[in-house]
Amino acid sequence: MENNFDLIVIGGGPGGYVCAIRASQLGLKTACIESRGALGGTCLNIGCIPSKSLLNLSENFHKAKKDFNHQGIEIEGIKLNIDKMMSNKNKSVQVLTKGVEFLFKKNKVTYIKGKGVLFSENDVVVYENDKKNSYKAKNIVIATGSAVSSIPGIKINEKNIISSTGALSLNKVPSKLAVIGGGYIGLEMGSVWSRLGAEVTVIEYLDYITPGMDREISNEFKKILTKQGIKFKMGSKVNFVKDGKDKVSINYTDTKTSKSETLDFDKVLLSVGRKPYTEGLNLSKVGVKKDSGGRIIVNQKLQTSIKNIYAIGDVIKGPMLAHKAEEEGIAVAEILAGQAGHVNYDVIPGVIYTSPEVAAVGKTEEQLKQENIAYKVGKFPFLANSRAKVNNETEGFVKILADKVTDKVLGVHIIGPHCGDMIAEMALAMEFGASSEDIARTCHAHPTHTEAIKEAALAVDKRPIHF
Ligand code: NAI
Repeated sequence: MENNFDLIVIGGGPGGYVCAIRASQLGLKTACIESRGALGGTCLNIGCIPSKSLLNLSENFHKAKKDFNHQGIEIEGIKLNIDKMMSNKNKSVQVLTKGVEFLFKKNKVTYIKGKGVLFSENDVVVYENDKKNSYKAKNIVIATGSAVSSIPGIKINEKNIISSTGALSLNKVPSKLAVIGGGYIGLEMGSVWSRLGAEVTVIEYLDYITPGMDREISNEFKKILTKQGIKFKMGSKVNFVKDGKDKVSINYTDTKTSKSETLDFDKVLLSVGRKPYTEGLNLSKVGVKKDSGGRIIVNQKLQTSIKNIYAIGDVIKGPMLAHKAEEEGIAVAEILAGQAGHVNYDVIPGVIYTSPEVAAVGKTEEQLKQENIAYKVGKFPFLANSRAKVNNETEGFVKILADKVTDKVLGVHIIGPHCGDMIAEMALAMEFGASSEDIARTCHAHPTHTEAIKEAALAVDKRPIHF
């Protein structure tokens, strides 16, 4: 096998594999090292993809069980076959990871299996079982992603105390599931198991869920999830979790009343965030610097403190999102090929794939207030959108924030049906510096959910038609 490359990418997740493919397209001799045994990283193997499979399947199950009957679709004896559901999910993952391998072959990226360790600024050693191979590269990209964070004293064992990985492959619906942390993972996986029949309790340290999200949307989101049957213990500090044989006990203190309580569950999902994963890379020996949060420090060109070593994705600052990592991967590949690679961090959408979905791009109302930016707000409820109405999906609303003087769109926040797809239109609008007037004057097909966006844009100027 070839040992000399223009670029070696360490990590085959969405950041790493996309970077490798783009670099190869641009004529760089590229290799990608991956230790998992499958490409696609956390996202494809134990994150975004399997969770979206279970979110979709559990939503179908829930709808068939709870809604179809009222809608004139009468089916008797609806049953959950969890083994089949899990194997459907596993098949989707397998097809997609194999697909990345195929893309590597097609684009002539060398796939090196094993754990990559930096030896010098141009040397990488790869360990695979007992084998050790050395490679040289003009440039190196670190794309090793992130790992699950825990709370001091709580040990995830993936049996009764589980991370998202365990929550994606339970072989039985727990009757009582506790979710510690009301963020992306907790609410998506909590929704899956709640729809499949578990009694889910979210224990959140703060007074609100999904920190960082526009607060009005976050409050609406919590209301909707509560209506769906998910319980919330807000302002609750977890003191300890004890894994007994048949149950797990959680002791927590209400931060307002200082009262402590112990509750018992079958399973506990710990979802209090993720941390950059750089273990065993030998960064300090080579001189790659990290900040106090363990993130690799990079400049605007995504260069680390060693100029031919770059870092992208969850190992550096910014939202831990697959598509942010992909953008950075493409930017680095283009910079290395002499082009002007660039990531617009102001326009990175975020989506929570619950039902309804929650999606956002740009600044929240809280951020605008904090930054003293004068803004206008336009809102439109899905209750007044004809497509949402006929589909019986009327929860939620669209909220557009525009600059008070220039009318430029500064942020869009949506909770409602299919908004995870709809947010792309808003990202595109913001990328091109659109005003709310531009959106309001764009013809949107009728009847579609996207008309709620047009109406919210009209509402910025207080002239919605259907509300
Ligand atoms: P998160 O950062 O989204 O949420 C963690 C939650 O835990 C926060 O609400 C926080 O206040 C709470 N928390 C922290 N310490 C706590 C404690 N001691 N007791 C109680 N609550 C506590 O983290 P999460 O959900 O683990 O997700 C990790 C990463 O994965 C996120 O950065 C997210 O961007 C990414 N992700 C993205 C998805 C998507 O794009 N749909 C889906 C799943 C994960």
